[in-house]
Amino acid sequence: MTDTKPASLFSDLDVLERTDFPELGERVEGKVRDIYLQPSRLVLVTTDRHSSFDRIIAHIPGKGEILNRTSAFWFTETADIIPNHVIALPDPNVTVARRCTPLKIEVVMRGYLTGVTSTSIWTHYKNGRRDFGGFTLPDDMRKNDRLPQAAFTPSTKEATHDVTLTPAEVVERGLMGRDMLAKVEDTARRLFARGQALALSRGLILVDTKYEMGVDDSGTLTLIDEVHTPDSSRWWMADTYVDRIAAGREPDYFDKEFLRQWFIDHCDPYNDATLPEAPNELVAELATRYQKIFARLTGGSLTPRTPGHKLIERIRDNLAPFAA
Ligand SMILES: Nc1ncnc2c1ncn2[C@@H]1O[C@H](COP(=O)(O)OP(=O)(O)O)[C@@H](O)[C@H]1O
Ligand SMILES: [Mg+2]
Repeated sequence: MTDTKPASLFSDLDVLERTDFPELGERVEGKVRDIYLQPSRLVLVTTDRHSSFDRIIAHIPGKGEILNRTSAFWFTETADIIPNHVIALPDPNVTVARRCTPLKIEVVMRGYLTGVTSTSIWTHYKNGRRDFGGFTLPDDMRKNDRLPQAAFTPSTKEATHDVTLTPAEVVERGLMGRDMLAKVEDTARRLFARGQALALSRGLILVDTKYEMGVDDSGTLTLIDEVHTPDSSRWWMADTYVDRIAAGREPDYFDKEFLRQWFIDHCDPYNDATLPEAPNELVAELATRYQKIFARLTGGSLTPRTPGHKLIERIRDNLAPFAA
């Protein structure tokens, strides 16, 4: 990472690229979060890092706060379905969490026949697949149609690309016992139904999402990581969905692809050692999109910044009570 900071895009929003707070414990760097390990807690600082191609391609002002607060919103909204890892929210960018042992699978729920990658459900369907192990689809479906029933499609946690497994394969591979898997599926279905219903009441379709679950000290299944965020989920606008599909168009979606595409057009993001800096207007556009979806979903807006008080200093101050 370089020392050069992207020029400030919104005069009062400085960017959180990285933190280093030795007083909080051992630091582990995820793609988006800086994680401080304590014996029974994690301090999860969500930065403004934006990843794609398995690397950081840009810093999006306000994104860290939006992701952290969106998850916090959903943890509260779903607390009656499954206990979650939240201990405290000492700062808009930070969650102090109970340290859990993550399950060995990613818990993916899908509501619609969509996706473009080689592993997406639409790609498989287009290529003739109808039997997906846990469920079977009828012949007459079109791209972006709603699935007859939401699909539970667990996948492995691979460093490079995740592989979808049928529930039977999860058990056969010894990743999880049958009873635990049944509980995970039931929980994921209820979370997804709650998410879809609430999103719809705000004019959004929760298309698909990925949950992480773990078990806590007492063996209780616990919702961890992030939930129903713009990064872990796909979102469409509800009011235009029917007309656009009927007209053979793509749904109106929350789109990050334009920034990815800029890198594909201007460098080799898979192989180049350093990447060019994304144009400010594209970064600003993505920042605005994050703010809009956050406002629509939660009614929230970014926390005003105190002039002269850098974001990283605010976070450090707010985390003083959580030193290891
Ligand atoms: N309560 C928790 N207990 C244990 N691990 C957690 C918990 N919450 C989140 N994690 C882990 O912390 C990491 C979050 O950082 P992130 O930047 O999202 O990482 P990644 O690059 O793996 O997506 C993930 O690896 C996630 O599995
Ligand atoms: Mg993550």
